[in-house]
Amino acid sequence: MAFGWIDEQADVRRRAGLGRTLRARAADSPLLDLASNDYLGLARHPEVVEGAVAAARTWGGGATGSRLVTGTTELHGELERELAEFCGAEAALVFSSGYAANLAAVTALAPHGSLIVSDAGNHASLIDGCRLARGTVQVVGHADPEAARKALGTHAGPAVLVSDTVFSVDGDAAPLAALAAACREHGAGLLVDDAHGLGVLGAGGRGAAHAAGLAGADDVVVTATLSKSFGSQGGVVLGPARVVDHLVNAARTFIFDTGLAPAAVGAALAALRLLRREPHRAARARAVARDLHTRLIAAGLDAVRPDAAVVSVRAPSPQTAVRWAADCRAAGLAVGCFRPPSVPDGVSRLRLTARADLSEAQIERAVRVIGDTRP
Ligand SMILES: Cc1ncc(COP(=O)(O)O)c(C=O)c1O
Repeated sequence: MAFGWIDEQADVRRRAGLGRTLRARAADSPLLDLASNDYLGLARHPEVVEGAVAAARTWGGGATGSRLVTGTTELHGELERELAEFCGAEAALVFSSGYAANLAAVTALAPHGSLIVSDAGNHASLIDGCRLARGTVQVVGHADPEAARKALGTHAGPAVLVSDTVFSVDGDAAPLAALAAACREHGAGLLVDDAHGLGVLGAGGRGAAHAAGLAGADDVVVTATLSKSFGSQGGVVLGPARVVDHLVNAARTFIFDTGLAPAAVGAALAALRLLRREPHRAARARAVARDLHTRLIAAGLDAVRPDAAVVSVRAPSPQTAVRWAADCRAAGLAVGCFRPPSVPDGVSRLRLTARADLSEAQIERAVRVIGDTRP
C-alpha cells in the first residue's frame, strides 16, 4: 500500500510516547493558561482586537496577493516603519509568519560559497533556513561563542552566524555580545531570532539585540515573530536597509507568499503602540518568570533559571512529561509539553510561559498544581 509506511512510523512514535494530537481550545476555556506564547497578555486586549477588526473592515479578510503585487497595504508600511523605529533598526520587512521570516533571512544571507554557523539549539525555522540555503552549514555547540569563533575562522568568504536570542526549549539567552565579537573578528554577519525576546527583553521590550547594544548595527540582522508578545500573527526581519532591499528581491518566502493578512497587521500595530504606552509590561513578564522559577525550585522541581519569559521544568521521560501535562490539565492548568524531536538534547520538559498578566495567586496555584501532579 502506497502510504503503509506511515502506520509503521506512527506505531514507533506511539510506543515511544511521542505521538502528537490536536486539541481544540475553547473560546471560554476555564484553564489557567501557562502554555501560550501570549507573553504580555495582549492577544485578547480590546485595543489589539479592535486593531484587527478595523484593519479587516478597511482592507478585507486577506492581503489579496504577494507583497510585490497587491499584498502591501499602507498599514504594512506603517507597521514596518514603527517596528524599525521601536527596535532601533534602519529598516523592517514584515512576513506572513516568523517561520517565513527566518527562512527568508537565512537563505538570502547565505549564498553559494558562504558559511553559516548555526547554534545546535536553534529553532526549527532557522534549521530549515540552513537546510534550504546554498551556503555550507556548520552546527556548533549550544551558546558557545568560542566554538562559533573557531568555525568562522575556518572560512575565507562571506559568513553569517545564526542563533536564537532566547532559546525556546529552556528559555536561556544566547551570549549575544560574545557572538557579535566573534563575528566582528572575522567580518561575518550576525543573524539572531528574537522571537522570545521582543516584547520581553530590553528597554520597554525592545528586544535582546537592543538590550545588547546591537540594534542598528550594519552587521546585525534580527528576525522576530508577531505571534508571541504582540498577540497577533506574522514575522519581521529588522536590519540595515540594504539587507531589507535584498530580501525584497531575493527572499522566496517574501516574493512567493501572500502578504500578511490586514487583520494581523492591525493587531500587531495596536499591540506595538500599546507596549510603547505601557512599557512596564515587559518588565512584568520577566518578574513573573523569576517568581515562577523561584517558587518551582522551592517546591523541589527541576526548573531552569529563565532569562526571559519561558520557564522550563525537566521531566524524567517523554511518557511522564505527557502524563504530567495531562494531569495538570485535569487540575485546571494548561502547560506546554516538549519532547523529542522538538528538544535537541532529548530531555523532555514541561514548558511554562510567564505572562505579564498573571496574578500572584495564579502563579501560586500553577506551582501547586505542577508540584502536586509531579511524576
Ligand atoms: C524561536 C522561534 N522562532 C520562530 C518561530 C516561528 O514563528 P511563527 O510562529 O510566527 O511562524 C517560533 C515559534 O513560533 C520560535 O519559537
